[in-house]
Amino acid sequence: MGKRILLVVAGGIAAFKTPDLVRRLRERGASVRVVLTDGGAQFVTPLTLQAVSEDKVYRDLWSLTDESEMGHIQLSRSADVILVAPATANILARMAHGLADDLATTVLLATDKPVIVAPAMNVRMYEHPATQANLALLAARGVTIIGPDDGAMACGEFGPGRMSEPLSIAAHLADWFTGQAGPKPLAGRHALVTSGPTHEPIDPVRYIANRSSGKQGHAIAAALVALGARVTLVSGPVALPDPAGATVLHVESAREMLAACEGALPADIVVAAAAVADWRVADAAGQKLKKDGGALPSLTLAENPDILATLSKPGPERPALVVGFAAETNDVLAYAQAKLARKGCDWILANDVSPATGTFGGDRNLIHLIRQGQSPETWPDLPKMEVATRLAAEIASHFEFENGKK
Ligand code: C5P
Repeated sequence: MGKRILLVVAGGIAAFKTPDLVRRLRERGASVRVVLTDGGAQFVTPLTLQAVSEDKVYRDLWSLTDESEMGHIQLSRSADVILVAPATANILARMAHGLADDLATTVLLATDKPVIVAPAMNVRMYEHPATQANLALLAARGVTIIGPDDGAMACGEFGPGRMSEPLSIAAHLADWFTGQAGPKPLAGRHALVTSGPTHEPIDPVRYIANRSSGKQGHAIAAALVALGARVTLVSGPVALPDPAGATVLHVESAREMLAACEGALPADIVVAAAAVADWRVADAAGQKLKKDGGALPSLTLAENPDILATLSKPGPERPALVVGFAAETNDVLAYAQAKLARKGCDWILANDVSPATGTFGGDRNLIHLIRQGQSPETWPDLPKMEVATRLAAEIASHFEFENGKK
């Protein structure tokens, strides 16, 4: 997201999740500077936050050194947005009533930037009319509220009050940033994106899978949403939150993925980023296979449908632009060129997934974009989020160019 976030960490048990939150925000390209309250420092150390943010952690309103280097007013303006996480009942009350009795609340009162809060507290404290009134007041003043989630709490009670997971807060911020600004060149276009692995059942409890994390496909769906496209994301099993603004269809097997894609047509754009299993077990057992000491079971495989090739077939419903991926471990360009021809798609993004690159499950990707009939274009090694933004921009300019020809 390439934005500057001032993270205010207040004193709740959920503060222990903030080093992970800082990482999640930074992996989306944001820079993070932390203000830690005294209460927050009971749950997470300044040194930890300094290490993960790679920036100084600010704590003291009365520090002469801090004030001379970066005054509290300057600190409050140094970011694009202020995120309060965890936002305790206490800090929400102080924000609602305009108190400025420590560095965090002074910065929050002095800022001219948007403020986002992720509440976290005991369920009774959250449901208390005082807290609800404070949240309503803050929302009416334009503060964005993320969460809280329902669930078991550190205090042993159950209900709303858990801070949203760091991944989900980071996704919200990324969507919030993209929703804020920018042209929408893909408005009116429908994009279908596949993402993640597929699971091919062996029996009701076992399956064949692969190491795809879905990070690249999900990032592409979010980047297309950001440019105004209506996005349908067909996702295999992944540990990622649904990108905001996309319609997400969750599937398990390749055949389910194909059916979901066909059901989502017509589309203008297809990006097939899923790592679809090439084979499934021909006769998946209806009951769990037993280890009975006899002959070892053997699996007979059957070929899965090729979703990309199916969607690329010429016909009235063929999407105008079909983009595939080619994950290769060697001879990347040659194999990718051959794949482009074999699948019948328009563009291929080829990437090297040999184990040394760390691409599968990692956060970066080195891409070669090969367009039908053109020589390959090699992109620099980029975070997956930036690969997604760049691809979405290429797709938008393709449609602008095609429109210009008409
Ligand atoms: O043939 P291969 O798996 O290397 O091709 C990769 C590309 O084809 C990716 O875009 C992938 O999403 C797509 N694919 C597909 N259905 C399959 C196999 C691959 O859509 N069964």
